[in-house]
Amino acid sequence: MADIFNKKYSIEEKLKMLTGVDGFAAVHPKDVQEPLLRMSDSPIGVKKGGSKAMCYPNPCLVASSFDRELMFQLGKALGTDCRAYNCNLLLAPAVNLKRSPLAGRNFEYYSEDPYLSGVLVGKFVDGLHSEKVGVCVKHFACNNQETARWVQDSVVDDDTLRNVYLKAFEMLVKNNNIETIMSSYNQVNGTYAAENKYLLNDILKGEWGFDGIVISDWASVRNLVNSFNNGLDLEMPNNNNSFQVLKDAYEKGELSEETINESVRRLLKVSKKLNITVSNHDSTSKKFNADDISKMASESMVLLKNEGVLPLSKTDKVLLVGEAAVKPRIQGGGCAEIKDRKFLKLPQKHLKEKLAKCDCIGNYDILELGTIDLGSYDKIIVFTCLTRWEDSEAYDRKSLGFPEEQVSAIKYLSKYNDNIIVVLENGSAVDLNFEKDVKGILEAYYTGDCFGTAVSDVLTGEITPSGKLAETFPERIEDLPNLYEFGKRTVYYKEGEFFGYRYFSTFNVKPKYEFGFGLTYCNFKWKNIKIDKVSDYGFDISLDVENVSNYHGKEVVQIYLKSENVFEPRKQLLEFDCIRLAPHEEKHVIIKLRPEHFTKYISGKQRLISGEYGIVVGRSSEIDEYTKQVVLKKEEDRVIDFDTMLGELLGNDKFRNVTLKYLRDAINYWAFGDENSEENFEDNGFLKSHVYDMPIRGIAYFVRKDDKMQILTKMINELTEIKENKK
Ligand code: BGC
Repeated sequence: MADIFNKKYSIEEKLKMLTGVDGFAAVHPKDVQEPLLRMSDSPIGVKKGGSKAMCYPNPCLVASSFDRELMFQLGKALGTDCRAYNCNLLLAPAVNLKRSPLAGRNFEYYSEDPYLSGVLVGKFVDGLHSEKVGVCVKHFACNNQETARWVQDSVVDDDTLRNVYLKAFEMLVKNNNIETIMSSYNQVNGTYAAENKYLLNDILKGEWGFDGIVISDWASVRNLVNSFNNGLDLEMPNNNNSFQVLKDAYEKGELSEETINESVRRLLKVSKKLNITVSNHDSTSKKFNADDISKMASESMVLLKNEGVLPLSKTDKVLLVGEAAVKPRIQGGGCAEIKDRKFLKLPQKHLKEKLAKCDCIGNYDILELGTIDLGSYDKIIVFTCLTRWEDSEAYDRKSLGFPEEQVSAIKYLSKYNDNIIVVLENGSAVDLNFEKDVKGILEAYYTGDCFGTAVSDVLTGEITPSGKLAETFPERIEDLPNLYEFGKRTVYYKEGEFFGYRYFSTFNVKPKYEFGFGLTYCNFKWKNIKIDKVSDYGFDISLDVENVSNYHGKEVVQIYLKSENVFEPRKQLLEFDCIRLAPHEEKHVIIKLRPEHFTKYISGKQRLISGEYGIVVGRSSEIDEYTKQVVLKKEEDRVIDFDTMLGELLGNDKFRNVTLKYLRDAINYWAFGDENSEENFEDNGFLKSHVYDMPIRGIAYFVRKDDKMQILTKMINELTEIKENKK
């Protein structure tokens, strides 16, 4: 093959590269057999593989793992599939935040917390990269709802934009060497994302130094020339008049050759990096089997409630109830969906083999349930799920609840049996208004194909659910801070960063289940917790975690910043670690906090935050195990000059006498109108505070000597010598 990456292309050839060659392929120079970029959705499986492709545990589920290693392995598994299906660029991950639980694509997103998303997704990306498959991080940016998504405008202030909505993207650009980013359909502050200079050229390519490709979301480009002039590199999918539009613009001088060359450089650079799979359709490299994937799903599930009903015991007689037990919802809908599931496994098959008795009624019909001797079962497990169109691209939920018939069935069953367990299938927080009627709740989210095995393994205790909520479950929909700023054409992000647990913890609104919460079958003891300060903005945290149970399981240690006297969210996740422990095993855990953990974008630049805070070692955003109070402040090493305040000098024994030697007369004159006054200004709180806040240049007005500037300069020199220890 000719060296296609260093070839000189004609302007026509270059313009052709700027738009897709078909629905999911791009960059197809004449002398190459197949397009260089061969893409496929999605974060939950390789759609290109059709019905043969595996449907993996969805992001909403695996985010609850808080487990970096699991995320790496999941990325690797998807990477293996990409190679098998001749795809070298996966259109994933999607790192938009769960701003509201109502947003339709939340199942594809990871969390309401930007740091958790950035770290976990970074590992997922590393996993895909380990198989030499590229990623497309989407949807840049503020695509936090589906309603009116093609035109919707997200109006958000700069600090919130940077600290919250762009954070995970920034982390991936800076830490994970990502190849491509997909701009979103919506507008951000009045400009469409695909032509948003501030987002694409200024921040992404400028400030963050992203040197990959910006791809448009499918058919989202409104003004092709505007988009290319403002940072887009590839329009997708193929649009048969784009070439002509671009050519005309080039000929009229509206699109420069320099701009075209820059996009082509990026397209060829990424194509070259991913070219390794062109001649390497490795369809035999299945490194993961269904059990590995099922285990990832089981471990990530979140046990929300367990009043002694789980795990099931072998002697239990169990009734499974609900359509969602026999036709489970295993994934969200839209472009991410992996169609025609053939490998779907159902829980009844597995549970039957393991329990004394396991019957199943595949609906919620109270009349039918009324014909059964419900009291004869030891436990009843109800499977609930959202309706077909909820949790789907292009549609936001209208309420938080499960369908009425499912809730009624749970309430009905609870009258005849005390041991009701509910398994939830959903992509984001739901209203659990039946919580008091049941003894167990297992959040299974969307498991992908392995539903039956994953759920059965958890119910029977073969695998311990170790997930922690990566989002807040509110008590009621009215508790959402942005309920009225959601689902409109123009959405004002008025709540700023106060949504999810940041809102609930700050304003003392009690959630049903908080961010970071999750039970397990294990019992973990935390011992010897210590937080050592190693620098102004450096802390080493250590503890021992012991599993005092007979189950294998994972514990998640969460580190939060707790605001004390500053207006910040009451809690902010700073770090986390997930520790895998065998029965009765103990491990020593070390977590390091460094200046980057305490850096925030505030009014135009990244700054270290300062004030009184608590550093919390916690089990959830509400369960603090240990807190150390700290004052975050960088020792300011200011020189002594005319702006130095008198308080900095008089309040410091090193400088006090020299300062008074030069300035007592002037202070007396200012305070009492008499240079020789016997009174002491420091005895009067008002005068003292006034003087202490005055800079040297202020008191200078009251030095009644002709050579006062020389005197003050001499004083400053003398004080500086003391400061530098020369005196
Ligand atoms: C979605 C993207 C997806 C693309 C290609 C769009 O509708 O927003 O996430 O990758 O279609 O299927």
